[in-house]
This record gives sequence, C-alpha cells and structure tokens, in this order.
Amino acid sequence: MAIRNLRYQGDDILKKKSKEVPEEEISTEKIQTLIDDMIETMHKYNGVGLAAVQVGVLKRIVVIDLYDDKGPIVLINPVIIKTKGEQEVEEGCLSFPNEFAKIIRPAEVVAEYTDREGKRMQVKAKELLAQAISHEVDHLNGEVFIDKIIPGTLEYVEPEEN
Ligand code: NI
Repeated sequence: MAIRNLRYQGDDILKKKSKEVPEEEISTEKIQTLIDDMIETMHKYNGVGLAAVQVGVLKRIVVIDLYDDKGPIVLINPVIIKTKGEQEVEEGCLSFPNEFAKIIRPAEVVAEYTDREGKRMQVKAKELLAQAISHEVDHLNGEVFIDKIIPGTLEYVEPEEN
C-alpha cells in the first residue's frame, strides 16, 4: 500500500469524467492496489471520501469512511438511482485544502454500486453518508463542490500548526 499524490484545485483532471471499471478488471491487482492506496490516502489526510480522479486515475471508484463501525466503504461504478429532500451542509474536499462552504445536498440517496469483490450492491443513505456519496459521484462526473456552493459561504480555514 502507498499514499498517492493528491490532485488539487486548478488541476484540469478534476473536470474530467471518469470511466466505468469493467467487471472483469475489479479483481485485478492493479484495481485492488488502487483501492487500498485510495483508502490509505484518504485516512492519511483525514478525509471522509475520495474519488480515484483525485489521485489522478479516471476510473469510477470511490472510497468513503465515516469513521464509524461500518469501516471504509468501496463503491465501484456507483449510480445514484433516487434522491429525496435536501440538507444544507458544511462541506470540504481533499482537493481544496482548508476551504469550506455551505452547500445543498440531497437529504437521502439510494445508490447502486459494485463492491471490491465484484458484487452489485445497493445502499440507502442519509445525512453525512448521503452527502458523501453525492459529493464523490460528482467527482466522477468532473464536478467539484466549489462550483455548487451557496454564494458567500466560502471560508478559508488556516491549517493548525502541528
Ligand atoms: Ni472531494
């Protein structure tokens, strides 16, 4: 496993659409290593989610960890099939360090995805998980949160000295 280099604001790759992962590739070492590296990279930077494009790989792979008992969730080729309601939330992104803003996200989402074992799954999510899935699926479509924020809510938070 390895920490991958993050891609940051201003990098054109963040505006590109990621490609579906063919089912037969999911079990390959290349994809499994990418997933492990994405989880390690997300943890290293204390992120709640990370899309493959953020480490420079245009594949429809997302990792999410709410640091609860469910552990990291891996979503390959995720599709949001239903949304319900709205929530106004504070949001950030590992590709936009120290920037936070308010944004409207769906209150609930139902998503289908393939897990790292190749099994098609469905998840019904609300609150932070719904927000995270929505944020990460946007990344796969070349969309970044900063383009959708509530105007005037962007804040720059100075990183704490370690
Ligand atoms: Ni992000």
